[in-house]
Amino acid sequence: MMHKEITEAERRNAIENAVTIVRRNLPQYTYKCQDANSVNGIYPAIDNIEWTTGFWPGELWLSYLATDDEIFAHAAGVFTESFRERIKKHIMVDHHDMGFLYTPSCVAAWQIKKDAHAREAAILAADNLISRFQEKGQFLQAWGTMGARDNYRYIIDCLLNLPLLYWASDETGNEKYRDIALRHTKTCIANSFRSDWSSYHTFFMDPETGAPVRGETCQGYKADSSWARGQAWGVYGLALAYRHTGEKKYLEMFEHVSKYFMDKLPEDMIPYWDLIFTSGDEPRDSSSASIVACGFLEAADSYEKLAEYEKARHYRSLAKQLLKAVYDTCMVKADEEGVNGLVKHGTYSKKSPYNTCTPAGVDECVSWGDYYWMEALVRLGGQWKSWW
Ligand code: GLY
Repeated sequence: MMHKEITEAERRNAIENAVTIVRRNLPQYTYKCQDANSVNGIYPAIDNIEWTTGFWPGELWLSYLATDDEIFAHAAGVFTESFRERIKKHIMVDHHDMGFLYTPSCVAAWQIKKDAHAREAAILAADNLISRFQEKGQFLQAWGTMGARDNYRYIIDCLLNLPLLYWASDETGNEKYRDIALRHTKTCIANSFRSDWSSYHTFFMDPETGAPVRGETCQGYKADSSWARGQAWGVYGLALAYRHTGEKKYLEMFEHVSKYFMDKLPEDMIPYWDLIFTSGDEPRDSSSASIVACGFLEAADSYEKLAEYEKARHYRSLAKQLLKAVYDTCMVKADEEGVNGLVKHGTYSKKSPYNTCTPAGVDECVSWGDYYWMEALVRLGGQWKSWW
């Protein structure tokens, strides 16, 4: 069924709204970071220690691109120094989320301002990421002590960490980063998607033989359901994998994985936190809608280059429909009290009887939900060169 698309006037209004909130938040979050999720609508201010702290600087760069106001570039520059210190001192970086951290902060800073400190930090982050590559199984280990049997796994989210590696190869001329990104992608597509194109959140490999073992969930409802955000990382991750490799099969998989996501949406188009739920009172995850919209805009650009204009139109339209749904039901209005994020109804981690997550941020603003909402809006306006 065709839903309404966000109009150009609504897109402009949404950007203006977002930039107003971001500007108002600058005093709290220039020398401190936003936490991963809001608590009762307000983001706690934290040190630069979480996997999510790159998203707020990303919002600052997007605000800068939308307004040309140097105040946003100045605040983002403060974060560049913080991120440089973090990687140099190895503060809370024993995990794979280097792309989520360093792409919207430091790669963006290098792209926009040619800030050499940002470039140095992002390359160090790429080095740190490839140090997590496991030859046995050919994957980037997501979390925990390297080689530990109970953490010998990768997660679908990692597809969004890989653009940092393609960027690092392009920047340095050293192919080692790209090579690992390609090998990880191959492992991921071989195991993470089921025959109906739903996805596993995490996937274990055998540390002795490197053979695939089993899919498990951490943040989804159960091992064989499809965590909404995992599916969304799959959608955007595959669209990016195509751009970085030119492998047509990634684009074909993108279509299947996207269809599964769209088929599970309720009437208002805001996904439940796990796609096993299609009606009822379970919390939503609006961030998945924005991530998928970004993936659709990415794929639409690729289809245009391939002269597949019908598909380009199709995915651009679906992106606009998802954004309209977020606009109508989740967008925070600049004059709304008691909330300082951009998008409501996100879910970070909801505990179920079958998953292993630590509960956090259920029906709250989530930092990546705010970021990808802005990325989609700015991109749709044609003002954006991807840093992914
Ligand atoms: N990458 C973790 C999450 O999406 O919550």
